[in-house]
Amino acid sequence: MYFIHIMENKSYQRRLNLIRQHISSNKCLNRGTVPPVSDDDVVIVDCIRTALTKSGRGLLKDTMPEAMLAGLFEGLVHRNKLDPKHVGDIVIGNCLQAGSGMMTSRMGQFLAKFPETTNLMSVNRLCSSGLQAVMNVAYSIAGRQIDIGIGGGVESMSLYNMNGTIDPEKISEAIFECEPARNCMIPMGITSENVAEKFQVDRKTQDSFAYESQRKAAAAQKSGLFKEEIWPINTRVKDQKGEWKNVTVTQDEGIRETTLESLGKLKPAFKKDGTTTAGNSSQTTDGAAVVLLARRSAAKKLGLNILGRIVSYAVSGVPPEIMGIGPAFAIPDALKLAGLTVNDIDIYEINEAFASQATYCANKLNIPAERINPKGGAIALGHPLGCTGARQFSTLLTEMRRTKKRLGVISMCIGTGMGAAVVVEREN
Ligand SMILES: CC(C)(COP(=O)(O)OP(=O)(O)OC[C@H]1O[C@@H](n2cnc3c(N)ncnc32)[C@H](O)[C@@H]1OP(=O)(O)O)[C@@H](O)C(=O)NCCC(=O)NCCS
Repeated sequence: MYFIHIMENKSYQRRLNLIRQHISSNKCLNRGTVPPVSDDDVVIVDCIRTALTKSGRGLLKDTMPEAMLAGLFEGLVHRNKLDPKHVGDIVIGNCLQAGSGMMTSRMGQFLAKFPETTNLMSVNRLCSSGLQAVMNVAYSIAGRQIDIGIGGGVESMSLYNMNGTIDPEKISEAIFECEPARNCMIPMGITSENVAEKFQVDRKTQDSFAYESQRKAAAAQKSGLFKEEIWPINTRVKDQKGEWKNVTVTQDEGIRETTLESLGKLKPAFKKDGTTTAGNSSQTTDGAAVVLLARRSAAKKLGLNILGRIVSYAVSGVPPEIMGIGPAFAIPDALKLAGLTVNDIDIYEINEAFASQATYCANKLNIPAERINPKGGAIALGHPLGCTGARQFSTLLTEMRRTKKRLGVISMCIGTGMGAAVVVEREN
């Protein structure tokens, strides 16, 4: 595994330097020449998610984050015959929940009967929080702090929405003299408009991308391709009369019959005369996802399945007002660390925060359309902020296994101006 951040571990450092030399001597630029397999690799054992449901009106609207997580933790234990006491740490990405989701996530761990000796923390790197959580666990495994861990993410956009305004009493006046600091407050929808304007991504192009996302997701759902990655959650939901009913949540709700014509009729959602609409934006959604990771040697010892391994990871800063361009920088950075090029990657899971930015990034990097989000993306499935990066692992790895592909990338833009990308290699 090759990280952009420097690790302390000495043997890891040695390996890192060897890989760097290998890359700089240009021997690593052939297809798929990633670091050799090692017992020290950080491997992905399993990844599951809840169905993604519409915020405010979907089947998970009354489900607490701890309940979503508890269901998934139990799912990992069940599917992998995992003894919870082997899990050294859990890291959960979360953006909106009170206490940064730390308390609810720890409660979820106890609900799923994980012992108090399994530690837990939450991380917030906005839309990449789920991915960052997975990578924090990967770092801990690579640094030999733990052998096995769970990285994941959760968001209830029903219980906590994105519209909390910043209290003027609680920010320093200095930010008004500092443009990038000020620009961190620009609403995400406006950053989409900025990208569309600056890089001339017109409405038709955005709607076509959105249409494709819906079409691919609908086809995948119809063929049952999400079944393997969705772990059913038993929960309760209040109906329109305010009465509780028991439900099992098994299916994504954001996917809808869509035509280019119906998309073209939607009004701009964020700016008069803008081009970003409800149809070409990611949906606000409830959901959770978890990824079980281990050092290869530990996975082998416990007889755990190995789906693939983490190869490289990068986070790259961009201007806050056009934060959507983040993947156009993070993807090349992560590929460079792995000694790979854009063409080496079989499948890209790029989060569709907005069609404007996803289209810009794909075009900028010359990624063939058929390699991007083959089962649709957040425009169709939804984007529960802290969950998304972890959700993309299950969507990517199940598809790589089904289509026997080897190299994949997960990437997303990040509010306040960053992009993140991870390269993974499938094994079984
Ligand atoms: C854009 C946004 C405000 C829309 O929210 P919303 O109004 O609740 O969205 P809805 O799903 O109700 O859709 C609004 C309308 O568009 C229509 N619509 C949505 N998608 C459609 C599609 N694919 N085809 C046709 N019509 C569609 C809906 O039917 C609805 O019409 P109606 O009002 O006549 O029923 C919201 O999704 C949003 O904020 N998205 C971005 C979230 C974000 O910033 N995330 C972080 C990214 S970094």
